[in-house]
Amino acid sequence: MRTYLVTGGAGFIGSNYIHYMFDKYGDEIRIINVDALTYAGNLENLSDIEGRDNYEFIKADICDREAIEKIFAENEIDRVVHFAAESHVDRSIRNPEVFVQTNVLGTLVMLNCAKKAWELEDGSFKSGKRFLHVSTDEVYGSLEEDGSYFYETTPYDPHSPYSASKASSDMVVKSYIDTYHFPANITNCSNNYGAYQFPEKLIPLIINNTLCGKKLPVYGDGKNVRDWLYVMDHAKAIDMVCEKAQPGEKYNIGGHNEKQNIEIIKTIIDTIAEMLPDSDPRKAHVNYDLITYVTDRKGHDRRYAIAPDKIRSEIGWEPETAFKDGIRLTIQWYFEHQDWMQHVTSGDYQKYYEEMYR
Ligand code: NAD
Ligand code: DAU
Repeated sequence: MRTYLVTGGAGFIGSNYIHYMFDKYGDEIRIINVDALTYAGNLENLSDIEGRDNYEFIKADICDREAIEKIFAENEIDRVVHFAAESHVDRSIRNPEVFVQTNVLGTLVMLNCAKKAWELEDGSFKSGKRFLHVSTDEVYGSLEEDGSYFYETTPYDPHSPYSASKASSDMVVKSYIDTYHFPANITNCSNNYGAYQFPEKLIPLIINNTLCGKKLPVYGDGKNVRDWLYVMDHAKAIDMVCEKAQPGEKYNIGGHNEKQNIEIIKTIIDTIAEMLPDSDPRKAHVNYDLITYVTDRKGHDRRYAIAPDKIRSEIGWEPETAFKDGIRLTIQWYFEHQDWMQHVTSGDYQKYYEEMYR
């Protein structure tokens, strides 16, 4: 039975990945989820699996070397799937320090603990071990509106404190691959959307505000482009890379689904209007009048677009969920989980929203 150490499993992508893995492998695998439960971590995301015998949650900070070493000492870990990070660009612009702390130094702690547990006396590593570092397309910087793409060979050119911290963490992982032949892979994925995403990010924020009849804040001219991928397609890609990739390889993950922000916002409004029954009183305010242009994000990257050619040809991964289906599934999930939304938007979120958008 393979044992996975998942970091940041109480967050958006991590919790979807854990659901994906138990759906796929059932009792054939064991997962240990390590998460510090920052504002972005929510055990409610995993309430349906918390009673499983092959699942364990450990509350710990990835920067806490002793706590992480103890997990490796007490368990024979086969896979590390490293999601834990500070993940929101706007927060990084306001408070960069914690991004360097968690994303760079926390990754270093994870690498050192895995290396210590897996390294043999001759400097090679126990066979079958794998460390997957989950990273982002933002490390490549910003593209022109000229049809170009990010490839694995595109030079790094991060602009925000968030993307700079992720780029740094990628470089540290690469240095362990190059120096020690440490059995790691790096994946750089485009923007994810789906269930359990915290409403500081564009799609859940727009869904929630539309349902509440609140203004929909569009940064700048609304024409920045992001390349959207349904989160379960990302989970599948991570699993396939863990099982099929050669150690040391790096893969871009994306599904050629580039859209301007304003297009995304209008699609969400149209889809919610279509999905709400006529008898629902919220339907009266679901229209484009909610759209409000606000001051642009500082250093706002113009366009992201992933070339997923390498993961397709070497790993055989293809995205399965078309955006028109994924966005309906996502909106339906938020319709059905309004209690989840209420829990995460009470308290500190109100303060964040007020400071960010006033
Ligand atoms: P998220 O913010 O929803 O979740 C992050 C999780 O990490 C939370 O559960 C949080 O509690 C935990 N965490 C934060 N600091 C920690 C620490 N010091 N120790 C232990 N746990 C800590 O993030 P997400 O959107 O799920 O992103 C997960 C990973 O995927 C990140 O590394 C991010 O850079 C990367 N990524 C995200 C996207 C996206 O569109 N969301 C796309 C590509 C890559
Ligand atoms: O590309 C992958 C990255 O995608 C991940 O690495 C990050 O963790 C993740 O947060 C995401 O970063 P973005 O900055 O692209 O996502 P966000 O949802 O914050 O914003 C998407 C676009 O929408 C971006 O151009 C900014 C814009 N935006 C965002 C918000 C929150 C708005 O216009 N209004 C808003 O209120």
